[in-house]
Amino acid sequence: MKKIAILFSGSGTNLENLLEKLHLKEFNGMKIEVVSTICNNPNAKGVEKSRKFGIEPVIINNKEYSSREEFDAKLVDVVKNSGAELTILAGFMRFLTPVFVNNIKAINLHPSLLPLFKGAHAIEESYNSNMKVGGITVHYVNQELDGGAIIAQRCFQKQSNMSLESFEEKIHKLEYELLPEVVIELLSK
Ligand code: GAR
Repeated sequence: MKKIAILFSGSGTNLENLLEKLHLKEFNGMKIEVVSTICNNPNAKGVEKSRKFGIEPVIINNKEYSSREEFDAKLVDVVKNSGAELTILAGFMRFLTPVFVNNIKAINLHPSLLPLFKGAHAIEESYNSNMKVGGITVHYVNQELDGGAIIAQRCFQKQSNMSLESFEEKIHKLEYELLPEVVIELLSK
C-alpha cells in the first residue's frame, strides 16, 4: 500500500478529485491510500469533502501558532505519524519553512505555467497577461515559493473572448487530470 497525505486550505475540489480517483484504488498492482488530510483553516469547505470519504481531516490552525516554524513542526509531526511517503499540496495556501521542506517529500499544484505568475493570484494574472496560453504546473516543494523543480505542466489555448470564469474552469479541468496522473507516476517509481 502506497500512503499519501493531502494538504488543503479552501474549497478542496482537488482534494475531492484525488480522493475519488486514488483513494483505495489500484494501479498496476499498486494500491494507494490517503492516510491523512490536513487543513490549516477550520472553516474550509474541503473539510466536509474529506469526511465524505470517511477521512476526518486534521485541523492545524495556523492562527494558533506563534511562528511559521512551530506551525510547520506540527505539520511535519502529523505527516510523519501518518506514514505517508508523499505529501500533496492541493490548494494549500501557506508559505512553508525549512522545518517542513527539509523533512517532508512534497509536491505542489499551481495554476500557472511556472516560473510565471507565482503566488496567490496566478489565475487572474495569467488571464490578464498578453500570453496566448494558460496552464498549470506540478512541482516539488522547496523553500522558495512556487519555486521547486517542475515535474509536469499542461497548457491550453486562451481564446480571445474567454471570460475569467471559463479560463478558471479550464485550469481546474486540467488540474483534475494532471495531479492524479503525476501522483500515480511518482508512486510507481
Ligand atoms: C487550485 O487552483 C490550485 O492550483 C491553487 O489553489 C486552487 C485550490 O482549489 N493553488 C495555488 O494557487 C497554490 N499557490 P481547490 O481548493 O478547489 O482544490
